[in-house]
Amino acid sequence: MTEALYDAHADWYEDYIAAADFYAEQVHPLLEGLLGPGEGACLDVCCGTGARAPVLAALGWTPVGVDLSRGQLRHAARRLPVAVADAVALPVADASVPAAVCVLASTDVRDYAAVTAEIARVLRPGGRFVHVGVHPCFVGAFADWSERPTVVIDERYADRGHTRDAWNPEGVRARVGAWHVPMAELLNGVTGAGLRLARVAERGRGGVPELFGLVAVKPG
Ligand SMILES: C[S@@+](CC[C@H](N)C(=O)[O-])C[C@H]1O[C@@H](n2cnc3c(N)ncnc32)[C@H](O)[C@@H]1O
Repeated sequence: MTEALYDAHADWYEDYIAAADFYAEQVHPLLEGLLGPGEGACLDVCCGTGARAPVLAALGWTPVGVDLSRGQLRHAARRLPVAVADAVALPVADASVPAAVCVLASTDVRDYAAVTAEIARVLRPGGRFVHVGVHPCFVGAFADWSERPTVVIDERYADRGHTRDAWNPEGVRARVGAWHVPMAELLNGVTGAGLRLARVAERGRGGVPELFGLVAVKPG
């Protein structure tokens, strides 16, 4: 199992998320619009502190969280039922859940295509997967947002390694680092897992989007 990097930062993350308007104003509408209403279990893969559980529940779903970090899950357990597990080996039967989401975690896992494939395994035919993450083209170690509204992108877009380089020393990435998943790799991971891409969306506070999301459906 991969190292649970967030264990050392879980109390900080819980407070950080609660204090930032960005999540309620940007992440939640994107997640709501892509997932839509439904019933039954919605697996929150890499659920962290469970901060998205109320959004899933408000849509009618029954959120169930999975994360590697016991520190994060200590907070999450107040919001949804949880299991400690690696996202590439979900403790869930094949073709058993109607929906799964993975929010702001594609840059936390070494192999996001493997996570997507694992989600495809557990989805029922007709089940939907919603990805919401930082925009692969405009957010990462390769992007300097310190002189907003100008955003400077450099050649590190091509770097796929793990790095703690970040323009914002106060943010999550300066603490735990990030893996970069280029856009083509992200989309190919979804289609390569056998999911049908249904819709994509971008969102942000200005002209350059900070978030990218998609919904993909398991055929059948
Ligand atoms: C930035 S947090 C996002 C948490 C939550 N989805 C949210 O929207 O606030 C990323 C989470 O991914 C989890 N994570 C990283 N690698 C993982 C893995 N291989 N399996 C399961 N969880 C993992 C971390 O422990 C952390 O809680």
